[in-house]
Amino acid sequence: MSMNLVLMGLPGAGKGTQAQKIVEDFDIPHISTGDIFRAAIKNETPMGLEAKKYIDKGELVPDEVTNGIVKERLAQDDTKNGFMLDGFPRNLNQAAALDKMLAESDRQLDAVINIHVQPEVLVERLSGRYICRNCGATYHKIYNPTKVEGTCDVCGGHEFYQREDDKPATVKNRLDVNIKLNTPLVDYYQKQGVLHTIDGQQDIDKVYADVKEVLNSL
Ligand code: AP5
Ligand code: MG
Repeated sequence: MSMNLVLMGLPGAGKGTQAQKIVEDFDIPHISTGDIFRAAIKNETPMGLEAKKYIDKGELVPDEVTNGIVKERLAQDDTKNGFMLDGFPRNLNQAAALDKMLAESDRQLDAVINIHVQPEVLVERLSGRYICRNCGATYHKIYNPTKVEGTCDVCGGHEFYQREDDKPATVKNRLDVNIKLNTPLVDYYQKQGVLHTIDGQQDIDKVYADVKEVLNSL
């Protein structure tokens, strides 16, 4: 059985948090376009430097760039038995591009998991987020702190950072941009019959229980 998934949801909805749990239970690669861009920025590649101009303003990176990255990634062998896209597609043009890429390799989406959270909650989620510098595990000051203060649960690292685009100057525009694009995308996947909307305003483990129920039903 293949498991070709898309995780969608507004910034801070919990895509990365749920993805971290999904990969523990299901053997599929986690493909986050945001993570790919951040790695490229860190390595100062030409693509990273280009993407940074948009990310720092909370804008979308142009579709030609993003679609190209995903196409390359989905051509790799480890996606043959399934994959989980996180943060892609974000608009209808990207959704159409994804359908085309998949059709060309005789694949299709099995489920789109839409993590639904009211926009009002998201500013607090984003401003309280911190990330392990060593392994990238994501935490929240209030809702999901490390078990031992200052020590990463996953790798034992002691250094954490805040994402540049989680600072207040960027968050508002990032939310505005994504809120506008979200509804048409939800409609698109609803029409395709693959959409599963999950209440993202529950404890992280409860959200995951709902996600798992969907995945086990595929
Ligand atoms: P990306 O990295 O994808 O950022 P995003 O979409 O803004 O989403 P986040 O990663 O901020 O949120 P998340 O849903 O993963 O939440 P998390 O699990 O961390 O993209 C960054 C940028 O790259 C974009 O702005 C754009 O510029 C560019 N980009 C990326 N993809 C692109 C594309 N397809 N096209 C064009 N440009 C693209 O959780 C957030 C916080 O909440 C954490 O602290 C967490 O601990 C906490 N939390 C999680 N779940 C819960 C819960 N249930 N209850 C309480 N707290 C919770
Ligand atoms: Mg994320």
